[in-house]
Amino acid sequence: MKTQTKPLNIGIVGAAGRGDSFTAACQASGGVAIHAVCDLNETALTESRTRLGAREQYVDYADMLARSDLQAVIIGTPMPLHVPQAIAALDRGVHVLSEVPAGISLVECSDLVAAAKRSRAVYMMAENYTYMRPNAIVRELVRKGLFGETYYAEGEYLHELKELNEVTKWRRRWQTGINGITYGTHSLGPILQWMPGDRVVSVSCVGSGHHHRDPRGAVYENEDSCVMLCRMAKGGLVKIRVDMLSDRPHAMANYSLQGTDGAYESARAKGEQNRIWLRSINAVPDSWTDLASLADAHLPEYWRSAGEAAAKAGHGGGDFFEVMDFLDAVAGRRPCPIGIHEAMDMTLPGLVSQQSIAQGGVWLPVPDSRSW
Ligand SMILES: NC(=O)c1ccc[n+]([C@@H]2O[C@H](COP(=O)([O-])OP(=O)(O)OC[C@H]3O[C@@H](n4cnc5c(N)ncnc54)[C@H](O)[C@@H]3O)[C@@H](O)[C@H]2O)c1
Repeated sequence: MKTQTKPLNIGIVGAAGRGDSFTAACQASGGVAIHAVCDLNETALTESRTRLGAREQYVDYADMLARSDLQAVIIGTPMPLHVPQAIAALDRGVHVLSEVPAGISLVECSDLVAAAKRSRAVYMMAENYTYMRPNAIVRELVRKGLFGETYYAEGEYLHELKELNEVTKWRRRWQTGINGITYGTHSLGPILQWMPGDRVVSVSCVGSGHHHRDPRGAVYENEDSCVMLCRMAKGGLVKIRVDMLSDRPHAMANYSLQGTDGAYESARAKGEQNRIWLRSINAVPDSWTDLASLADAHLPEYWRSAGEAAAKAGHGGGDFFEVMDFLDAVAGRRPCPIGIHEAMDMTLPGLVSQQSIAQGGVWLPVPDSRSW
């Protein structure tokens, strides 16, 4: 007789916004049901429920947690809701996949760490840029030792979103309404994976001044370009630049990496190549190779087997693989790759940078959540 295993019931909060992006992976994974959707926007919620094929819909998150038969939630709500909603789920033993960043203050991040420690449920932060194809290849090359020792990196998130601030109003408060690095995990996340076993121990943050006003004539509290220098525990250096205000053609995420045996420069604009130099491949020191030419030999296995399905999901496959990793962690098949401490390693430097820039760029220590 065939045994029917019960699907893992997932609830998506913020389902009418970002929450929607996780569906391709949930549907492709098998054994998972988007059981409930939750959003304050009732009209959009009903549409989401139909689109995602959910059985239940809620306008109140606490109500969904209390009444629905859920084993996991995906949190796609605005930034200040990530921690309270994650803690509420973890305290009920419900697994959490939370949007980035993990939290908006050091105090609430420490509350989240405590909740993750006392819960039997999995916490994962959905840092999708770590899974993008070029970033995944670079990570694989680092893992194989082809970069030697990695000691310097740059990450940039240059996403002009002044108009989006007016549509998703929480951005005007939490992303452009605070000075410093308010949205840094897309830049820092992949880089931390390229410097395995390392973490940011102190940061200094400065800005380029204020050259833009919102439609009401108010100056954005966030300086146009904020740059955070990160001192790494092993002595290396990382530079993160975030700019959500300056006018420029779209070229959102840029990276570079330097190791003792290799260098990487991602494409800065459409049509450019992601360039790599590896001592073991390019005998001539000043000859770059197109990163794409190394895909046959170095694309990680998970990308090979699911690339086609992943391509249909958003953010260059990132929205797909993060869900797969979360489901693997929930099922105990593999450890969670961006669990609570990795999420803190990616989130806390940006929060400390906000104190640094307020004090004229002074270097400040970044706490290690493992010691909390
Ligand atoms: N990883 C990525 O690439 C990526 C991309 C976009 C957004 N994000 C993150 O996703 C989150 C949402 O961003 P967005 O652009 O979708 O914003 P959004 O405003 O478009 O969507 C958020 C949704 O949450 C709902 N919501 C707000 N408060 C709620 C509550 N208390 N209970 C239930 N629903 C509530 C809103 O009605 C809205 O539908 C943010 O944290 C953002 O940083 C990540």
